Amino acid sequence: MENFIFQNPVKIIFGKDTISKIQKEIPQDARVLMIYGGGSIKRNGVYDAVQKALTNHKLFEFGGIEPNPEFSTCMKAVELIKQENIDFLLAVGGGSVLDATKFISASSKFEGDPYDILEKRSPIRKALPLGTVITLPATGSEMNSGGVITRAEFQTKLVFGSPLLFPKFSVLNPETTYSLPKHQVANGVVDAFVHVMEQYLTYSTNAPVQDRFAESLLLTLIEEGPKNITAGEVNYDARANLMWAATMALNGLISSGVQSDWATHLIGHELTAFHGLDHAVTLAIVLPELLRKTKNKRKEKLLQFGSRVWNINHGTEEERMELTISKTEDFFHSLGIKTKLSEYNISPDTIDRIVERFDSRGMKAIGGLQDISLVDLKDILNACI
Ligand code: NZQ
Ligand code: ZN
Repeated sequence: MENFIFQNPVKIIFGKDTISKIQKEIPQDARVLMIYGGGSIKRNGVYDAVQKALTNHKLFEFGGIEPNPEFSTCMKAVELIKQENIDFLLAVGGGSVLDATKFISASSKFEGDPYDILEKRSPIRKALPLGTVITLPATGSEMNSGGVITRAEFQTKLVFGSPLLFPKFSVLNPETTYSLPKHQVANGVVDAFVHVMEQYLTYSTNAPVQDRFAESLLLTLIEEGPKNITAGEVNYDARANLMWAATMALNGLISSGVQSDWATHLIGHELTAFHGLDHAVTLAIVLPELLRKTKNKRKEKLLQFGSRVWNINHGTEEERMELTISKTEDFFHSLGIKTKLSEYNISPDTIDRIVERFDSRGMKAIGGLQDISLVDLKDILNACI
């Protein structure tokens, strides 16, 4: 196992009727900015529940954060914060709202152009405190300190992060997710699944605790995911299990002491930046072919994943690895997610643009393992067509 420091300070408030508890989590004298998306929270009662909980606080609001949150929208929120002397941010919505709120928090205290936080990875030295009410189980943003921001005019989608951006608290009420369209729930299952894979399906570092935590999350997503999509009525327990699995998938626990990758995400972000595909869809497209391309380098973990998660124990190593990858792809299909670029009307000319983009950033290999060269990347994307 590799050395690590693990510290996750986020207070999780989980369960039914929990939004009212935020009243005690936000300082009484705070000037609070509630940040939300395109209006789902107004239709499902979450907006009203937050307003009610904070009747005794000085509350401002900023709506209109887009899916794949946009830099320029975040900058408008920063202006409001400066104008109204806001000192606490409350994100209410999906991962996009949470990520935007983190970026707004850092940007409102940043000296210089906040785009440098994304493009130049300029360090974040100060940030406004924030809390969250998450309404979409997927990203894990509610219990981590990172985010992703899109800038449409440059067709970029870039990551940022800082320990200063851990939420002070996050409310996880599975009931807030009942209004989600089924395809968003499916996206959430796939995103959480691939988060685990990015931290697990790499090289062995002899870390059985992390491996078995990761496998328990994958098995839970395989069992509970479909119950949330195919069953007629919403099932509280299935939704609660999905929500907790998604949070645990990306809160730093399973990545401690092991090799992480994130190549699937890095490639997927470019597909969203160029084509606007949903984040989870890009992952479902890239992961199977990325595994096929790197299977010999990751053989030990791939065989372990096949055996422990998909119960694949017979056949040659080659056969077991291919069956493991196709089972994973079938799982994405079973959730209603297509896994080929052509099925989203994306033509092969995107491949060179993506490869050139990594090249122009001076990257000769992709991901934490550095086992995917730009030539490999081209092969992977060609196989994704
Ligand atoms: O904007 P509103 O009206 O709220 O609608 C949203 C949005 O249209 C809707 N929605 C959310 N909760 C709902 C709901 N609709 C009905 N009922 C509810 N309870 O769902 C749509 C998608 O929301 P969004 O927040 O964009 O989805 P998600 O949570 O999947 O977040 C995706 C973003 O997170 C980033 C992605 O790159 C993408 O930008 N990620 C963030 C990560 C992190 N912070 O750690 C890691 C991930 O890998 C990911 O990259
Ligand atoms: Zn993701």
